[in-house]
Amino acid sequence: MSKTANISINGQSYDLPLVEGSEQEQAIDISKFRGQSGVITIDPGFKNTGSTQSAITFLDGEKGILRYRGYPIEQLAEKSSFLEVSYLLIYGELPSSSELESFASEITTHTMVNEDIRKILDGFPSSAHPMGVLSSLVTAQTAFYPASLDPNRSPDEINIGIIRLLAKMPTFAAWAFKKQKGHPLIYPNNQLDYCSNFLNMMFGLPATQYEADPAVTSALDQLLILHADHEQNCSTSTVRIVGSSQASLYASISAGINALWGPLHGGANQAVIEMLENIKADGGDTKKWMAKAKDKDDPFRLMGFGHRVYKNFDPRARIIKKAADDVLEKLGVVDPILDIAKGLEEEALSDQYFVDRKLYPNVDFYSGIIYRALGIPTDMFTVMFALGRLPGWIAQWKEMRENGEPIGRPRQVYVGETDRNYIDISSR
Ligand code: SDX
Repeated sequence: MSKTANISINGQSYDLPLVEGSEQEQAIDISKFRGQSGVITIDPGFKNTGSTQSAITFLDGEKGILRYRGYPIEQLAEKSSFLEVSYLLIYGELPSSSELESFASEITTHTMVNEDIRKILDGFPSSAHPMGVLSSLVTAQTAFYPASLDPNRSPDEINIGIIRLLAKMPTFAAWAFKKQKGHPLIYPNNQLDYCSNFLNMMFGLPATQYEADPAVTSALDQLLILHADHEQNCSTSTVRIVGSSQASLYASISAGINALWGPLHGGANQAVIEMLENIKADGGDTKKWMAKAKDKDDPFRLMGFGHRVYKNFDPRARIIKKAADDVLEKLGVVDPILDIAKGLEEEALSDQYFVDRKLYPNVDFYSGIIYRALGIPTDMFTVMFALGRLPGWIAQWKEMRENGEPIGRPRQVYVGETDRNYIDISSR
C-alpha cells in the first residue's frame, strides 16, 4: 500500500507521507505541507483532522467499537472497576492485585482537601452551577500545590498530582452539591470504597452515614467506567491544548471541565432530562417533538442523539440503556420519562431524517435516567460525567506531555478587510 499521498495545486504536485495506525487508520501528514506549498488545510470543528497519534482509546464510529488500551468497553463495563480502568488508562496496563490495592490506597489517603477550600466554597451563592464550582476548585489546587506549576516536574511529582486529583475530585463534586443544598459538608471516609465514599459525601448527614444499596454503587461504578475516556473529543482536546502550553495538570483539567459543560457535549445528559421533562409536561407527544428536531427553522435538537464519530449505536448507550432498566427495577423506581425516552428512540430509529443522518442515541441519552434513580439531581449530571472522564483526561494529558508534543497553535484563513489607512474620528 502506498506510503504517500499526492496533492496537486495549480499544476504543482506534492507528495505527503501517509501515517498508518495499529488499526489500519490512515492519515495524511501535512506537518510540512505549508512549507512546501504555502497552502494550509482548513476543517472547522476538526471533523476530519487528526490532532495526535494516541495509544489510549480506539473507537470505530461506523462499527460502534470502543476499546480502552485494546480492551472492549463491554468487557470492562462487565468485569472491571472504575479504579482499575483509571489505572489502565493512565499507566497503560491492567494492574496486578497488589498494584490496584496500592493505587486505591494512595487515592483513599488523599481524599481530604485543605480546609481553606471551604472558604472558596463559601464565596459561591447556592445558585452556582456545580460545574462552575468544580472547575474553580480544581484550578484552586494550583494555590495549595504551587509546585504543580513547575513544567519541569519529575514523573514522580506529576504522579502525586495525578493521585491527588483522582482523590479530591469526588470531594469537590460532593461539596459543590452540599453547597447548593445548603447542607453541612460531609468529609471523606477512608473506610469506604470510591463510590460508597462519594455517595456518602453526597447524601450522608453529620449524624448518619449513607448506606448505599450495592445496586447503586455498582451502577455508579459502571457509569464512571463508561465515561472514562473517548479519544479526542471536545473536552479532551481542550485538556491537551491547554497542557501543550505547559500549563499545570490542574489548569488543564479545569479547562476540560469547562469544555464538557456545554450542552452539545457533556452538558447533554442534563439537557436530555430537561427535554424529556418538557415533553412529558407537554403531554408526551413525541411525534410533535420529533418534527421540531427535524425542522431546520426550529433550534430544537433531540438531545442525547447524534454523534460526531458514531454513525452506528454508541456502544455505551446500549450498555447504559440495559443498566437503566436493571437499576430502576432493582430500586423499584418507575420513571415515566424512561418510557418517553424509549418511545423517542423507537421513532427516531425508524425515521428517515435520523436514518439518513445516522443519528443514534449517544452516551448521554439514558445516563441521566440512572442518575435520577440514584437520587442525583439534574444539574449534577455533567459533574458525574466529569468524574468519570477524569482518568481519561489525565491519561491524554500525560501522553501528550510524555510524547513532547508541540504547543497547539492552529492556522487560519483571513477573510477580513485588506490593508487600509486610519481615518480621523472627525471625518468618520
Ligand atoms: C458527547 O466527541 C465525543 O466523543 C463526545 C462524547 C464523549 O464521550 O466525549 O461522546 C460525549 O458529547 C456526546 C454528544 C452529546 N451531545 C448531544 O447529544 C447534543 C445533540 N447532538 C447534536 O448536537 C450533534 O449530534 C453533535 C453535536 C453531537 C454532533 O454534531 P456534528 O457532528 O457537528 O453534526 P452536525 O451538527 O453537523 O449534524 C449533522 C446533521 C445536521 O443536519 P443537516 O445539516 O445535515 O441537515 O444531523 C443533524 C444536523 O442538524 N443533527 C441533528 C442532531 N444531531 C445532528 N438533528 C436533530 N437532533 C440531533 N440531535
